Amino acid sequence: MSQTMTTETFLKHYTLDRRGTHSVKWDALQQRFNTTDVIPLWVADMDFKVPETVITALEARIKQGAFGYSLISPTYHQTFIDWLTRHHGYTPKKGWLRFTSGTITTLFWILQAFTKPKDAVMMLSPVYFPFFSTPQDTDRTPICSELQRDNTGRYYIDFDDVEQKMKDHQVKVFILCNPHNPVSRLWSEEELTRLFTLCEQYQVLIVSDEIHQDFHFGTFTPALKVANGRFKESIITMTSASKTFNLASLPVAHIIMPNKAHRQTFDNYVKTIDHTQLSVLNLVAAETAYQTGDVWLTGLLATIQSNYELLKRELLSKAPNIGFTPLEATYLAWLDFNAYIKPDELDAFLIKECRVGVNTSTNFAPASPGFGRFNLAAHPDTIKEAAKRIIQGLKQRNLI
Ligand SMILES: Cc1ncc(COP(=O)(O)O)c(C=O)c1O
Repeated sequence: MSQTMTTETFLKHYTLDRRGTHSVKWDALQQRFNTTDVIPLWVADMDFKVPETVITALEARIKQGAFGYSLISPTYHQTFIDWLTRHHGYTPKKGWLRFTSGTITTLFWILQAFTKPKDAVMMLSPVYFPFFSTPQDTDRTPICSELQRDNTGRYYIDFDDVEQKMKDHQVKVFILCNPHNPVSRLWSEEELTRLFTLCEQYQVLIVSDEIHQDFHFGTFTPALKVANGRFKESIITMTSASKTFNLASLPVAHIIMPNKAHRQTFDNYVKTIDHTQLSVLNLVAAETAYQTGDVWLTGLLATIQSNYELLKRELLSKAPNIGFTPLEATYLAWLDFNAYIKPDELDAFLIKECRVGVNTSTNFAPASPGFGRFNLAAHPDTIKEAAKRIIQGLKQRNLI
């Protein structure tokens, strides 16, 4: 049996106080929330140290003292491919890969390389906000298809709406969030097959953002695996070590393009705008994490899951009408406060009254207001304190 780590062991070894480390999440509270008196459960990174092996590898590389132009290590590609094979059951070819310094940067490039100004770019909403700001900022037209919710709070795709909008707006690119931030869905093979069949029918390029691929509590289906790879020529997949291993300030993103013409279009575009080198430290960190981070990841996932249960227990025992979206993936809990708080008061309620700093529908879902996104990659004491403050806030308003 493969080795795993318990939550207790993970917390004992990897708990981290990030205050005073130039952390956006902890040290930019004044700028973001206009106060420093909030518990930060917002931006999607973690209050945990990277695997110990990554720290050791970085130390050893720094001690070499050589930071001139560097080659990508000859083992990097294979290490990344091995991770995908081991964890996600598919094996891209080395020639399909490109490395960049971020998935959102790459999304800008893809939109500019593959579409024209005003072209329609589609996404399922609520979604991570750069999915619609990136088309806006590049003078493309974002088209949202609103996800629907069933009575368990689980979201699903309105395929009729997707098809109608693809037709009406002549959509050129579909940006898929797989798994989906913030609604925590693991899209099934059946859903993806249906979606990709529509994309095929309407000649829509699929960009699958799989940055949350390693946080799944059920079956994750990579876009390139759907129907045994039948749609691979229409897909560009993006992943990054930064999300899985909390390396956002040492980024390495991976772009997977099985289609030769796509690679040519991408390469021709990138050569006109980017000649920077990836930092050797970023590559060392990512490669070491992919080689040695499996057990660390099991401890992290156990912690995320137990934090979700903790938040649920603490809140629902006193405020049973808060809606919990089932946690299928990511480390982000998407909570519905509509039973207690008017949507236009939610930011003020959570941030000013409860002193809990989260992202809300204002950031993700103008069309589905009243939700808060809680970052579960934190110490359980932090989660507990946030829940306590929310209960106090509801009591102060005489709502419970
Ligand atoms: C779905 C999704 N894509 C992309 C990003 C950001 O990725 P990067 O830092 O590589 O631009 C995030 C960060 O939270 C995300 O949730």
